Amino acid sequence: MDSCSLIKLFGVLLVYGVVNVVPTLGDVPFDDCYDVTWGNDHVMFLNQGREVQLSMDIHSGAGFGSKLRYGSGFFHMRIKLPNKDSAGVVTTFYLQSKSNNHDELDFEFLGNKEGKPITLQTNVFVNGQGNREQRTLLWFDPTADFHTYEILWNQYQIVFYVDNIPIRVFKNNTKIGVMYPKQAMQIEGSLWDGSDWATDGGQTKVNWSAAPFHAHFQDFNVDAGPLKTSNNINENCYASDYWWNQKKYWTLDHNQQKEYEKVRAKYMNYDYCDDRERHPTTPPECASNRI
Ligand SMILES: *[C@@H]1O[C@H](CO)[C@@H](O)[C@H](O)[C@H]1NC(C)=O
Ligand SMILES: *[C@@H]1O[C@H](CO)[C@@H](O)[C@H](O)[C@H]1NC(C)=O
Repeated sequence: MDSCSLIKLFGVLLVYGVVNVVPTLGDVPFDDCYDVTWGNDHVMFLNQGREVQLSMDIHSGAGFGSKLRYGSGFFHMRIKLPNKDSAGVVTTFYLQSKSNNHDELDFEFLGNKEGKPITLQTNVFVNGQGNREQRTLLWFDPTADFHTYEILWNQYQIVFYVDNIPIRVFKNNTKIGVMYPKQAMQIEGSLWDGSDWATDGGQTKVNWSAAPFHAHFQDFNVDAGPLKTSNNINENCYASDYWWNQKKYWTLDHNQQKEYEKVRAKYMNYDYCDDRERHPTTPPECASNRI
């Protein structure tokens, strides 16, 4: 079975077996689905390639990307962030199309000084337009252990999850004129120097005497609809034999909705929707994505 594409049979089992979001198939080695894209000498493979450590020092960070591009899916990664003094250090897990007016769905972890909390920033770019940052604190220490970060992407909604709890929803609002991602995207991960923006708005830089910084990644099988020949999404990406396209994934269910509201109320500390300086009028998608 091709572990970088769908897992149809498994998907069918899941639909009947599991209520919320879904555990994934057994681990596969990094090389099955991913390549290192930069900073080769700052990448270390552990546990027969089932875990990858990216390092950053003053010379370089590192990054990796999926071999294939995808047009829908349930994307997931287990990540443990750099510990101690990580101000200015940015760890990412995201989807991105390769084009001028690109689509992109981001998890960006903004490091912080020792003892201060790490912020998780998410963003959604459609057709080259971003400026949709949301920021949330986490209810655990993301440097202490691995946690699961997930992005559901189907024709109806994009949902960002932390340990299966929805923290952000971006619905298909094309009805009201909001563009929705439709370009094939690659899965990427990286560790890099965000001194000029990530911590205290760029006031707090990377402390290089605390280097090297290490981020760990696991969970390299991919539950997503691959595009082998073309960059354009086609109907196959939306086929309902991919479990993440089925009706129960078109909206959050009642419990997920409650969890989502709770997380927003308790942990979210920045929402572009409420930033009147940047967005004097509330962007049209905000009302329906918030509920
Ligand atoms: C968004 O939803 C519309 C129906 O409202 C559908 O026709 C369209 O294919 C969807 N767009 C994408 C990019 O999935
Ligand atoms: C930088 O890191 C070193 C080593 O971890 C630490 O001793 C020092 O206090 C840090 N400097 C600042 C400005 O936080």
